[in-house]
Formats: sequence, structure tokens, C-alpha cells
Amino acid sequence: MKGIRIKGTGRCVPERVVTNEDLAARMDTSDEWITSRTGIRRRRHCTAETHSTLCAGAARAALARAGVSPEEIGACIVATVTADDLVPSAACVLQRELGLPQDIPCFDLSAACTGFLFALHTMECLLNASPRRFGLVVGAEVLSRVTNWEDRGTCVLFGDGAGAAVVECREGWPSIGAVLGCHGDDRLLRLPGVERGGRSLISMEGTRVFKFAVEAVPWCVDRVLERTGRTVEDVDFFVFHQANARIIDLAVRKYHIPPEKYYKNIAEYGNTSAASIPLVLSELEEQGRVGPGSRTLVVGFGGGLTWGGAMVEFA
Ligand code: ACO
Repeated sequence: MKGIRIKGTGRCVPERVVTNEDLAARMDTSDEWITSRTGIRRRRHCTAETHSTLCAGAARAALARAGVSPEEIGACIVATVTADDLVPSAACVLQRELGLPQDIPCFDLSAACTGFLFALHTMECLLNASPRRFGLVVGAEVLSRVTNWEDRGTCVLFGDGAGAAVVECREGWPSIGAVLGCHGDDRLLRLPGVERGGRSLISMEGTRVFKFAVEAVPWCVDRVLERTGRTVEDVDFFVFHQANARIIDLAVRKYHIPPEKYYKNIAEYGNTSAASIPLVLSELEEQGRVGPGSRTLVVGFGGGLTWGGAMVEFA
């Protein structure tokens, strides 16, 4: 089996910044509550932008950084639960927008906040069976579209954005060693589908999901280390899904991860679900904190319930 590595990342976020103070002006909440419980200070919400424009912006930036042309792409996956339409998929729209080849698989993947990890693993499998070497993986969400503004327990948490990675698959590179899991549960975290006839808005039992997350994160870290035969010290950077700063802080304390080896951007973007991990990866790459040879341990968790981890290296 050939392994994949990240060749280049990119991101695209809406222009409109919504601060905690903006939310406090329209509902019974406060900057103090949101910051102390979640670490979130601001988030971005789409106005003129659409899911498709975010995807295209992030994908173009990733292709440019990778130095790979659209014709070289062998598969495209968009991880999302908030695409503009069910059909055509966001990935098919991206095929047209970017001029990706027509003889490749392009599709959307739904695994909520773990979507980017599910997509990376799927991409590794696809490229192993493809004559082409490069793949495009995008995580994108417009969660402001499915936010319940009458539920202060959830509406302050989510933001919009997109991140993308161009990956390369080569003989001799180890697999990313993805560990993925799910436990079907429609009570703790739900985004109802159109066919149910109700309002398609997110609902979440935050405290119970929090408890699930603080167990899922170390489970994923341990399994990935076991699977790849690595130790915490072998990892250059830990990338956690940005759902709540307190969840990240607990993991950092448990594994004694030094400040220069993890990153939080939740203060700026809130929880952007499938976009959160590639947003982190792209900021890290832009800041020169990861690059060729860097080994990152990436962990995600979220609705489904779903969880996953992988050892993702940069080419
Ligand atoms: N402003 C002020 N007060 C609030 C707000 C708000 N925005 N929201 C809730 N409160 C109040 C509640 O009403 C409650 O008041 P009460 O004690 O008088 O009843 C109090 O604050 C505590 O509420 P909790 O829900 O218990 O707060 P908690 O400390 O659990 O924090 C949070 C809530 C931030 C949602 C947390 O549980 C969390 O982060 N959960 C995990 C989220 C997550 O990881 N999601 C997974 C990914 S999401 C996805 O996949 C789409």
C-alpha cells in the first residue's frame, strides 16, 4: 500500500466577522460566558459568499501552494454537511469551477466534524487504485445556515469557512494509519435531513458531547501512535478539531504537549466542523510551522457520533 502526504494547503473564510459582543447584543449571552466556556471570541459568517465559493477559494489556494495543476488531480472529496445542494455535490461543482479532469471520482462525504479525516483516509484508498498521483481534499461548512438562533447553547459555537489540502501518493511512503469510528446516535447531536420535514437546524446536548469528546481524543491519539509505531515525542505537531479550547487543553495536559507543538485558532473561527482541521493545517503551513518533513498527528470528533485520527506528514 502506498501512503499519502500533504503537498500544499489553502483556506478561504467569509469576510464578515461576528464577535461575541455582536451576539450578546441580540441574545442573552456574554463575551465572558462564551470565552470562558469555549475559547471562542469571533467567528465568520457568510453574506455574499456561498459554500461553493469558499470551496473554490480554499482549493485554488491549496493547488497554488502545492504547485499542482487541476489537470493532475486524480480524485476530489469535499467533506461537508452544509453543501449548497445535495445534487450536484459540492465536489462536482468544484470539478467544473477548477477544471478538474472529468474521468475522476468527485463526491461529498458526510461525517460532521470528523469529515476531513474520513476524507483523507478515503483519498489514500482511492489514490492507491488510481493512475494519478495527486488528490484534492476539502473541508467546508456554512454552519450559519443551519444555526438555531433561539438556542444560545449552540448558536454561539459555530462558524463558516473552508480549508483544503492537495495530497500526493507515492510508493515507499507509509500509510497515514487512519483510525476511524462511529456510533450512530441521533440524540446527542443532530442536523435533521430535508426529508423529515422539520427545520434543518443543529441541536446538541453540549455537556454529553463534551464528555464523549474528552474520551474520544485520547483514544484516537493512543490508537494512531500504536498503529504507526510512533511515540508522542516523534510527533512534530498535534492538530485537534477546534470544538472547544477546554477539550484541546485537556489533551495537551494529558500528553504533556509543549506549546510549540499544538495550535488553537478557535478564538478566531469558532467550530467550523469539517473545515476546522484544514483551517489549522493551512495556517500552520503559512506560518512556516509545518512544511516538508513535518509529521502531524491529527484528531477529529463530532456528530454521528464520529471520531478519527491519523499521522499526516508533509511532502
Ligand atoms: N450564554 C450564556 N449562558 C449560556 C449559554 C450562552 N451562550 N449557553 C448555555 N448557557 C447556560 C445554560 O443555560 C446553563 O445555565 P443553567 O446552569 O442556569 O441551566 C449554563 O450556561 C451551563 O450550560 P451547559 O450547557 O452545561 O454548559 P457547558 O459548560 O457544558 O458548555 C458547551 C456548553 C460549550 C456547548 C460544551 O458543552 C461543549 O463544548 N460541548 C462539546 C461541543 C463539541 O465538541 N461538539 C462536537 C462537534 S460539533 C459537530 O460535529 C457539528
